[in-house]
Amino acid sequence: MTEKKYVLAIDQGTTSSRSILFNHAGEIVAQSQLEHKQIFPRAGWVEHDPIEIWKNVRATVGNVLSDAETNRHEIAAVGITNQRETAVVWDKNTGKPVYNAIVWQDTRTKDLCDRFAGDVGLDRYRDRVGLPLATYFSGPKIAWILENVEGARERAEAGDLLFGTTDTWLLWNLTGGTKGGVHATDVTNASRTMLMDLHSLQWDPEIAAEMGIPLSMLPAIHSSSEVYGMGRKNGLLVDTPIAGILGDQQAATFGQACFEVGQAKNTYGTGNFMLLNTGTTPVASKNGLLTTVAYKIGEAPAVYALEGSIAVTGSLVQWLRDNLGIISSAPEVQALAESVADNGGAYFVPAFSGLFAPHWRSDARGVLVGLTRYVNKAHIARAAEESIAFQSREVVDAMIADSGDELTELKVDGGAVRDSFLMQFQADILGVDVVRPKVAETTALGAAYAAGIAVGFWSGEQDVIDNWAEGARWSPQMPEAERERLFRQWQKAVTRTFDWVDEDID
Ligand SMILES: Nc1ncnc2c1ncn2[C@@H]1O[C@H](COP(=O)(O)OP(=O)(O)OP(=O)(O)O)[C@@H](O)[C@H]1O
Ligand SMILES: [Mg+2]
Repeated sequence: MTEKKYVLAIDQGTTSSRSILFNHAGEIVAQSQLEHKQIFPRAGWVEHDPIEIWKNVRATVGNVLSDAETNRHEIAAVGITNQRETAVVWDKNTGKPVYNAIVWQDTRTKDLCDRFAGDVGLDRYRDRVGLPLATYFSGPKIAWILENVEGARERAEAGDLLFGTTDTWLLWNLTGGTKGGVHATDVTNASRTMLMDLHSLQWDPEIAAEMGIPLSMLPAIHSSSEVYGMGRKNGLLVDTPIAGILGDQQAATFGQACFEVGQAKNTYGTGNFMLLNTGTTPVASKNGLLTTVAYKIGEAPAVYALEGSIAVTGSLVQWLRDNLGIISSAPEVQALAESVADNGGAYFVPAFSGLFAPHWRSDARGVLVGLTRYVNKAHIARAAEESIAFQSREVVDAMIADSGDELTELKVDGGAVRDSFLMQFQADILGVDVVRPKVAETTALGAAYAAGIAVGFWSGEQDVIDNWAEGARWSPQMPEAERERLFRQWQKAVTRTFDWVDEDID
């Protein structure tokens, strides 16, 4: 038998799909990335084409195998990580989606959420699922498809339709699709549907019934690290174990080796997501955080986390590029922001999908405030960068309030941590060190570890800890009075986003 040298991670993200090949030291050997189309049919709606995503994934897998001059014989296992709450519904007989994937950022389920909340309120299911009713989560998106796509409800009730987040969509296709594809997900993805009981780690039939979702559509819930199935016969990964699934933010937590209670990471991608390990019992938040599953390794008990999710951070930089045209690539935002000494009094609160943690306001929309004739595009770029750090400060404050512990330093990762201006400003606004690991692709790395641990390529969490290495560190330099002044202004700006959406506005 050929010696197994690598683990392959498939990172199916919001803006792109990536395949990354890791060696036993947790180093990147080859990677390939393809962006997919962002479909905006109307204000507040965001969709992806699941067929395009599956095609891009196959292409990136092919690319890394050829770049590394290897084939599946040298691959010990495949791990999948994914954008989490994005809902795909497809026909199990044809493999065709009945509608585009409805993306986590999409706000179309606001009325449905209000309806499910009824007289009880948006926290109706929180003690069971750890989440408030919000447009963010996938369960209400399934309900929307069943209520709005012609014929979908009948086909679902006849047992012909399957639901999955993109991990499940890929797993089903990778393992054979209409010819015996495995219909499964892991506890971390299931914990984002609003349909899984956090304690039993099983679907809650009552909530599913109240949302009108047949249980036959839902994937089997497994741990995050076990062999779910083997690559299909006619694919590049034939007979290769698919052995790890983690939602992208949980994968980053795993890849950052946050295995102890109290350890946290903050990922700077399309949005920002901070997760704090709270151990083997779920902790309820009193400060606007979510309770979620961090990971579950095989038969070991599930480990839970408190999460602060921020919808718009890196995507604001893309918006400056694509919608305003004031930069031509994301990295240019740093030089433009640094070309001015301060924000010129401007604050930009990017409540494009309402506000997530810690506010949970679906009625909020974005504002740019503090404008005078003095403010120019550089100040706007700077205000955009600063908004990423301010929003993270709000989440950190909520974590501190919930856990009662001080933060001593913050482990960071994701695409925007290449931006050293942003990292320094983050350290300044938090008043603690910000630390970036050597491998900043921690999302893919975490999925690789989960898969590799399942097949014995790595022996367990200690290997992840041993492979983690510090890459860069930023320490606070801003005087405290300045920090608090800026943050106070930010908080005032946030209040200006509230109550924007009326009944007759999307
Ligand atoms: N130098 C930079 N400065 C600021 N932001 C940046 C920089 N480089 C990339 N970004 C932002 O980082 C984001 C990409 O980061 P990353 O690849 O981690 O995203 P992601 O959330 O993983 O994407 P996906 O959602 O597709 O998984 C983009 O939104 C981009 O605007
Ligand atoms: Mg990502």
